[in-house]
Amino acid sequence: MGATRARAVRWLLSADDHDTVVARAVAVLRAGGLIALPTETVYGLGADASNAAAVGRIFAVKGRPADHPLIVHIAHADAMDDWAQAISPLARKLATQLWPGPLTLVLERRPHVLDAVTGGQATIGLRVPAHPLALAVLREFGGGVAAPSANRFGRVSPTSPEHVRSDLGDAVDLIVDGGPCTIGLESTIVDVSRGDDDAVILRPGGIGPEVLAEVARRPIPLRESAEVRVPGQLASHYAPRARLFAVDPEDLDQAVATHGSEALGIIVAGPTNGAPQWTQRGRAWKVVLDPEHEFARHLYAVLRELDERGCTVIIATLPAARELGVAIIDRLRRAAGSPPASSH
Ligand code: TXA
Ligand code: MG
Repeated sequence: MGATRARAVRWLLSADDHDTVVARAVAVLRAGGLIALPTETVYGLGADASNAAAVGRIFAVKGRPADHPLIVHIAHADAMDDWAQAISPLARKLATQLWPGPLTLVLERRPHVLDAVTGGQATIGLRVPAHPLALAVLREFGGGVAAPSANRFGRVSPTSPEHVRSDLGDAVDLIVDGGPCTIGLESTIVDVSRGDDDAVILRPGGIGPEVLAEVARRPIPLRESAEVRVPGQLASHYAPRARLFAVDPEDLDQAVATHGSEALGIIVAGPTNGAPQWTQRGRAWKVVLDPEHEFARHLYAVLRELDERGCTVIIATLPAARELGVAIIDRLRRAAGSPPASSH
């Protein structure tokens, strides 16, 4: 890896260099290196899922505990059978209808799958990401790419190549620049490894519960207890440096008054001109995000930006608990260090 490992190289995607970018990314993967891979949810820190040393580097770079499993990214639903077995009808249906997309399926693993990838569990998380560049890399590579979000453990996930660079710098061999992520929140994780009747959502995410229910023809419940190790389910995860308070919109004024002596960052939902609207009053910053199109997409970037602008306290208003709002509430509560009642 010599030259590429010494310095992170940022590849700009354009129509002309698309093939070069894909070829370089695949070369790094084959050589056991790490790439930052753009997906529609967040950027992943990817390695060849069948190379134990390469997978080990992911844990070292992220500072992630070794028993936390990684999602394996594949190019097509057909490749599920290379990694998983005893795949249920519901799992097939979800994969066929929702991949490529922000859905991770937890399935019974095949025996050859590395313990480093599964954290020693009997299951494996699989996903086909809906990003043209990620799919091109996965197709050309041919194998699976193990990839957690490309942030340091416990911090806010990166939704742009700049976020990856500022979090991981030269620890990653190649940052594949696929622009800003369109969804902006991690995938929904559904555990279908215990049979269709016991399917549960382990982590709400980019596919809302309504869409899952439509495909499954019944609601899939959100998991109640933390039997399976899912680091994103720890309290105080997805966290900015500032202290964060997640409040219902009607409690906003009270929260602002309570923390009025801090350098405040305030995130609210409301109409915008198609981009986050920033205003400053004294030391306080207020950001308005369109609830339909921008809240999820810009949330992580806004949290980072508020940190950079020196905010010591962030107050974010909670959206309605439907569609992507379910995942937004989950992440805001975890960033606030208080896991939602529904998952504990
Ligand atoms: O959208 C996403 O899911 C992004 C992109 C890069 O694909 N990835 C991501 O990875 O968020 P990570 O590692 O930050 O979060 C993946 C979650 C972790 O909480 C992990 O514990 C869980 O998936 N997970 C992976 N394999 C699992 C398994 N076999 N059983 C239960 N949970 C699993
Ligand atoms: Mg993560």
